[in-house]
Amino acid sequence: MDIRERPRRLRRTAAIRRMVQETRLSPSDFILPVFVREGATQPIPIVSMPGVVQHTEYSLKQAATDAAAAGVGSLMIFGVPAVRDACGDVAIADDSILAQSVRWVKEATGDDLPVIADLCLDEFTSHGHCGVLAADGSVDNDATLAVYQQMAVVLAHAGSDLLGLSGMMDGQVGAVRDALDAQGLTDTALLAYAAKYASAMYGPFREAVESQLQGDRKTYQQDPANALEALREVRLDIAEGADIVMVKPSLPYLDIIARVSDEIDVPLAAYVVSGESSMIEAAAAAGMIDRDRAILEVLTSVKRAGAGIIATYWATEVALKLAR
Ligand code: PBG
Repeated sequence: MDIRERPRRLRRTAAIRRMVQETRLSPSDFILPVFVREGATQPIPIVSMPGVVQHTEYSLKQAATDAAAAGVGSLMIFGVPAVRDACGDVAIADDSILAQSVRWVKEATGDDLPVIADLCLDEFTSHGHCGVLAADGSVDNDATLAVYQQMAVVLAHAGSDLLGLSGMMDGQVGAVRDALDAQGLTDTALLAYAAKYASAMYGPFREAVESQLQGDRKTYQQDPANALEALREVRLDIAEGADIVMVKPSLPYLDIIARVSDEIDVPLAAYVVSGESSMIEAAAAAGMIDRDRAILEVLTSVKRAGAGIIATYWATEVALKLAR
């Protein structure tokens, strides 16, 4: 046999495999997304997201403390308000459930755990869209930016270290940066959901935030068929001042993650969204796959593709496992 190259040599033992492993997950890679339900007196399970709940103040603080202790990189907060209206007015109140949640987490974990408040209107509007509507029922881009600006100032004053701009309105990064800087809030960083696709993978999230959405978000989120459009969105967001950019969802878009990571000089994040996680949970519950191996494989693939920061509902669980 004239075989000089034998890649199997480097796979022979677990220790050798570990030695040559190219991609390593670490707890600080992870963003833990959490939901906080206004008025909840105990954590409310989200049926379509096994293991995930809508938090109370108390359970939120516990989750933040646990995440920080496990070395998780940051916490991202979605607020679920008790009342909604057409303009999402509750989103710009100083005592919105989201602003309160930011304060609660800061009380619990201070500067040990960076907080990212979700800056979007979909949880706060009665129609469930990410912005306010024009007279013809379309989502009004520029009118929405004015609301995002107010929301940004409220959330920054509440102590959010970063803001997660997930609404996919044109010009949102620049508008929010300007509004923050005008108030002297120059230290609040912006994580831009730069390439966010109109995906079927968000299904369970809609239950998590009790979304009122009828229809879809195709006039503002991206077409899954497009890649160049993602590069353009990323370029614009960085030019407008994004400190971190994100691709979302993850698994159906690993090619996008790889292409974006080749082009940018800011940190790149990717979001393993609700549907991606629930598919694994459901398949595992049905005895079809090994849950823990599948989770590690997915998270590793996202990092290997080029995302150094990964938003995942499994953040604390996996961080604890990595420490062992
Ligand atoms: C909307 C938003 C969505 C998610 C995060 N922010 C849903 C949507 O765009 O319809 C989805 C996250 C997930 O599915 O885990 N601001």
